[in-house]
Amino acid sequence: SVLEMEVEQIKKGNYDHFMQKEIHEQPHSLTTTMRGRLRDNSVVLGGLKDHLKTIRHSRRIIFIGCGTSYNAALAARPFLEELSGIPVSMELASDLLDRQGPIYREDTAVFVSQSGETADTLLALEYSLANGALCVGITNTVGSTLARKTHCGVHINAGCEIGVASTKAYTSQIVVITMMALAIGADKLSTQSRREDIINNLPTLPDKVSDVLKLDVQMKDLARSLMQMQSLLVFGRGYNYATALEGALKVKEVALMHSEGMLAGEMKHGPLALVDETLPIIVIATRDACFSKQQSVIQQLHARKGRLIVMCSVGDAASVCAGGSCRIIEVPQVADCLQPVINIIPLQLLAYHLTVSRGYDVDQPRNLAKSVTTQ
Ligand code: G6P
Repeated sequence: SVLEMEVEQIKKGNYDHFMQKEIHEQPHSLTTTMRGRLRDNSVVLGGLKDHLKTIRHSRRIIFIGCGTSYNAALAARPFLEELSGIPVSMELASDLLDRQGPIYREDTAVFVSQSGETADTLLALEYSLANGALCVGITNTVGSTLARKTHCGVHINAGCEIGVASTKAYTSQIVVITMMALAIGADKLSTQSRREDIINNLPTLPDKVSDVLKLDVQMKDLARSLMQMQSLLVFGRGYNYATALEGALKVKEVALMHSEGMLAGEMKHGPLALVDETLPIIVIATRDACFSKQQSVIQQLHARKGRLIVMCSVGDAASVCAGGSCRIIEVPQVADCLQPVINIIPLQLLAYHLTVSRGYDVDQPRNLAKSVTTQ
């Protein structure tokens, strides 16, 4: 109805689409995610504090989710492994169910879901409860089935997300799991300075997100240059393997363009065969322990005349692309484990502008639903 359409427009404010609004809201949503949870040199997560001991004694932490929520857990996994010293494994909910994979009493199963109502994730929760695991929920929806049926958990407090493509929930999920890692690791003296460094960096993140959002016009321009393409590859590794998967997922789900996120370390085991002068490839090469490995990936792609778009830290543009030509996306540098929060934002903007340029429905992509409540 006309009234419904007017209400929609009011909720969108000055933006054309909910996805656009939610992308630009991230400095604020991240602030609310962290609000009241950071003390000097410690993290307080009320929904988890009585269970930290059990989690620290578990033999394995398993992340379970679907789509973007799975990718968020993947982004935070390296830091959780580092701080907890516990093996962290990843399960797509449907795959765990298909395999009826082993879940034990000594496991902590962490369920990640924006809506808290995704059928596959909830079925995996039932299964894990039946197997006696400690079940932790990470959701954006207070009172959701996930929030009610897990033993404990954390709300991400990102605010209502309406666009089918998840954006602000993704970055808030990463920050919540990072805070969870800090809380779980809080008893270890050996990592104290590392933890303090990240805790001190977290409050600066919203401003860095505001900075990276200034790339909007540049991403619109990049989208125009890519709008006719059949396909787009995204290479990442380490903390930003998840960024590659999530960037590609955004492009395929809203811009309806074939896109694959790939682990850069696997490039020579297949994907390299695709490289030619026409296929656009985004390489994520911001500064972290994997930087030199990504530099050699760029060189190998140059040698095969790949059409490169390199995402690098501010100041690295000239050096990162030496020996070939490429487009550059320069992003502000933050602590390594927080960099995925920054790096996904230009790719969210790219997916958004690609969708608009290609003339597709941004907020209701073809064949997709915000919450998949059937199996
Ligand atoms: C659907 C949505 C995705 C979302 C996934 C998981 O496929 O279209 O955007 O990432 O479900 O949703 P959840 O609510 O469990 O995070």
